[in-house]
Amino acid sequence: MTDVASQSPEAGDDRPVLTNRQGHPVYDNQNQRTVGARGPATLENYQFLEKISHFDRERIPERVVHARGAVAFGYFEATGTWGDEPIAAYTRAKLFQQQGKRTDIALRFSTVIGGRDSSEAARDPRGFAVKFYTEDGNWDLVGNNLAVFFIRDAIKFPDVIHSLKPDPITFRQDPARIFDFMSQTPESMHMLMNLFSPRGIPANYRTQQGFGVNTYKWVNAEGVTHLVKFHFIPKIGVKSLTERDAAAIQAGDLGHASRDLYEAIERGDFPEWEMRVQVMTDDEHPELDFDPLDDTKVWPENEFPAKPVGRIVLDRNVSNHFAENEQIAFGTGVLVDGIDFSDDKMLVGRTFSYSDTQRYRVGPNYLQLPVNRPKNAQVRTNQQGGQMAYYVDQVGENPHVNYEPSIMGGLREAEYPTHDEQGPEIVGRLTRKRIPRTNDYTQAGQRYLLLEPWEQDDLVANLVNLIGQATRPVQERMVWHFFLVEDELGRRVGEGLGITADDVRHLPPLQSQTLSDEEQQRLANLGNNGSRDVAGLQMTHCVPNEHVRVAAEPQLAQA
Ligand code: HEM
Repeated sequence: MTDVASQSPEAGDDRPVLTNRQGHPVYDNQNQRTVGARGPATLENYQFLEKISHFDRERIPERVVHARGAVAFGYFEATGTWGDEPIAAYTRAKLFQQQGKRTDIALRFSTVIGGRDSSEAARDPRGFAVKFYTEDGNWDLVGNNLAVFFIRDAIKFPDVIHSLKPDPITFRQDPARIFDFMSQTPESMHMLMNLFSPRGIPANYRTQQGFGVNTYKWVNAEGVTHLVKFHFIPKIGVKSLTERDAAAIQAGDLGHASRDLYEAIERGDFPEWEMRVQVMTDDEHPELDFDPLDDTKVWPENEFPAKPVGRIVLDRNVSNHFAENEQIAFGTGVLVDGIDFSDDKMLVGRTFSYSDTQRYRVGPNYLQLPVNRPKNAQVRTNQQGGQMAYYVDQVGENPHVNYEPSIMGGLREAEYPTHDEQGPEIVGRLTRKRIPRTNDYTQAGQRYLLLEPWEQDDLVANLVNLIGQATRPVQERMVWHFFLVEDELGRRVGEGLGITADDVRHLPPLQSQTLSDEEQQRLANLGNNGSRDVAGLQMTHCVPNEHVRVAAEPQLAQA
């Protein structure tokens, strides 16, 4: 009979030996332990049970949004200034202060809607989440490549995401559902202009902008606060794809953007972005026709210039996808001294959501993991236990004291950096109200007019194609919105759908809408309002966008 016993390694094989997680050497990784060569398997086979049961648990729940992503590491290098002024006038955050000061960062790019193996050529906002490992602890700036969002109140987030995610029965993404929701959500118009234009499919992660989107605050040493918005501009320029280009890429590769990022870093072609900041005094700004706390709006850059504060460079790839990509955890609540929250109603809602989902998705001790822990700051807490506690956080000199206050060698509170009170006084009664300055159409119209012609053509084609799959009442309502956005947009999408201004001018405003006088006038003149005036307007996003041509030209393809 053939001898089927395991073979020992060849003499002189000095490679390291495989073990199990208990440190026991594995003598045979090919065969289970059985009663005889053909007999039943034994249950005391610890090595087999450990291997299979760990495999059974290899996946943690994927992120409920932004499941597919790519992480790289690098640094932020400060200019020490905001434009020409010393930055200390605006913020005391240490990472910004000295010219040339470098702070370690991790950056995760992502798509939003698909699962973790989905296509990176999908039309979707792209996540741009930066973790700054500062000496004051971590700062997370969890942003996107599009500078605005669909909604302005966090209570609507599950709804907008459900409309964009697959249908709960057919499990297909369905334009009829998406535009059903958007048609009843006029604040989404500005985002739709960006998402359904080529900006909704960046050519690669290296060729997209990044934005904090929500409004934050900077605080200086005197406790003076300013409202701020963060921008990142790619050094190699913004480049995007049309639907056809994306389809051509997707046919052969679902992970082209992760590959591009990884390969660029491996060959030493380190991606770089300039970080710029817009600043506004910390008040309501009644002179503006929008609310500075509304994340469906951008701040006109001719009035609020985006000035450089430094650059970020990515120069190292992950060494393990699971440890450093699946388990990395960002949150909008993770701020350092000198940076603060604004009352942006999305921001406060987001701040609860991130660490809540991470305690479920990764576990209550997710902040002890190497990629998440504040590696350039000390951590001393009285938190203990919980699943997967990897170590006990540093405590005071007496390890018996895991509470505060104590005079037996425990930890003490820190001093306030400067002031306890800061920012404007807020007075109001408890309520559930919309912000008064909704102005949902102006910036959407301005953005449409400031798109490059090829972007406008692609936007219109995409809207006609997708809204054409919605029900007739939804199509009519979308055309009604688009006429309020800009005559030409309403006309072009309407032509594609066979709907004129006359077909929709009888529609009353949505029950949830309160139109301003100007909007009522536009409604009365639907289709005949004339083009909006965008002379001199410098709008966020309006930087050149190179069309990366991948697909054959339409004429050739049809021939
Ligand atoms: C109220 C509104 C929002 C809620 C409740 C929300 C919630 C979430 C949740 C639960 C995750 C998964 C986090 C994880 O599992 O680690 C996530 C990821 C993410 N969100 Fe949001 N989100 C909101 C709005 C936004 C906005 C406006 C932006 C863009 C500025 C954004 C950018 C991101 C990014 C980039 C990620 C991925 C982070 C990563 O790479 O790990 N989200 N969001």
